[in-house]
Amino acid sequence: MIVIKSQEDIRTMREGGAILAEVLHEVARHAVPDADTLSLDRMAQDLLVARGGTPAFKGYQGYPASLCVSINNEVVHGIPSREKKLRDGDVVGLDLGVLYKGFYTDMAVTVGVGKVSRTARRLIEVTRQALERGLRKVRAGATLGDIGNAVQSFVEKKGFGVVRSLVGHGVGTEVHEDPPVPNYGEAGTGAVLKAGMTLAIEPMVTVGDYAVSTLDDQWTVITDDGSLAAHFEHTIAVTERGYEILTRS
Ligand code: MF3
Ligand code: CO
Repeated sequence: MIVIKSQEDIRTMREGGAILAEVLHEVARHAVPDADTLSLDRMAQDLLVARGGTPAFKGYQGYPASLCVSINNEVVHGIPSREKKLRDGDVVGLDLGVLYKGFYTDMAVTVGVGKVSRTARRLIEVTRQALERGLRKVRAGATLGDIGNAVQSFVEKKGFGVVRSLVGHGVGTEVHEDPPVPNYGEAGTGAVLKAGMTLAIEPMVTVGDYAVSTLDDQWTVITDDGSLAAHFEHTIAVTERGYEILTRS
């Protein structure tokens, strides 16, 4: 069942989303050579709490941190640790969620650390643009397949892979609500969007093959071929004529 949010609900999510975006951007500015990933996690948590938010991921199905930090061949759900430091040339996905006044919002960005390769820069830019292509399809009356198809066709045209086994999702009073939001598919298929739906759209893109696996830590998702991956995510509200990005500072 896809929950339709009221204007009041969306107002609350907009407030939470603004806090989340501000905090995630601040954390991203600290993704520099030698930064340890646990410090980034602490920073994210402290900044969220100082603004009246609660980290959404900590304790979610046992996840041990507030922030996901996914480096290079790690696609998503990398666990921060004191031992894991960022290095010049790394591609780092930063994924954070907040619970604010009863509503969740979810956001991710990917940044390059120091001086990164041409391929890494291209991957990050294509993934950011893929999210934008998906967003542009959003309006009441469009379908989930329209979004997925826009993301997939753009990414594949650029020669990269789109992860299939992880998808975006509805978001609201739960971190993960219906519907699943795939980053692939056929235009005109799948659930029809309605004004008041709130969705987390989150393309995960690989330089090589899109096949991924989960490490023994039960969380970290890596590319099977070892290629670089990137991830961007916004929480949005569907409107009659388009969409509103809620994770915007
Ligand atoms: N944005 C990620 C997702 O939607 C958040 C993962 S939550 C975690 O899957 F707690 F499981 F890490
Ligand atoms: Co998400």
